[in-house]
Amino acid sequence: MIHILFLFTLLSSTSYASVNDFCIADLKGPNSPSGYQCKPPKTVTVDDFVFSGLVAGNTTNPFKVALTPAFVTEFPGVNGLGISAARLDMATGGTVPMHSHPGANELLIVTKGKITAGFVTPSGPFVKNLRPGDVMVFPQGLMHFQVNSGKGKASALLAFSSANPSAQLLDLLLFGNNLPSDLVAQTTFLDVEQVKKLKPRFGGRG
Ligand SMILES: *[C@@H]1O[C@H](CO)[C@@H](O)[C@H](O)[C@H]1NC(C)=O
Repeated sequence: MIHILFLFTLLSSTSYASVNDFCIADLKGPNSPSGYQCKPPKTVTVDDFVFSGLVAGNTTNPFKVALTPAFVTEFPGVNGLGISAARLDMATGGTVPMHSHPGANELLIVTKGKITAGFVTPSGPFVKNLRPGDVMVFPQGLMHFQVNSGKGKASALLAFSSANPSAQLLDLLLFGNNLPSDLVAQTTFLDVEQVKKLKPRFGGRG
């Protein structure tokens, strides 16, 4: 009897607690490390939980890749849930250069073509040629890359353990700023000439 009473109390209290079941992002409000503020629950519809834009992106760019995100900004329903998705399209020769996600683990689910992917750690590199149906995980914070190693196009779906995963691109960090070239050279052991060559490519000066 006590158990039934307890269950009943639990059920009735959870039905009044639906305000805590989700927190659709109010994108007009401020963002913070814990996410956006919630839209008023009464204004939430099923479309807040659906993102329909995970279509092929435009790969006409220097990297020959397109990343189509379904992060909190595009998909307010993932706000506060620690999860998000994206689609990766790669033209022949496409490259996602060495980068890391300080706040998210990543899953790469290959859907088309051939992708060579890997990450580097102090205990060595971990690299694999992937085919459709293969899934690779990239642990949070580790430097990783993906290249299209096939002759045609390649595609993959991505999942992140963050609603808003940030990315640190190694080349952009090193060459996409006005840190003096000799300082970049001295701190990376690259030749100054090589640094000066890469700076304009990644939007840097000096
Ligand atoms: C893809 O991007 C390129 C370069 O920005 C542009 O010239 C081209 O029109 C775009 N293609 C499509 C289908 O949008």
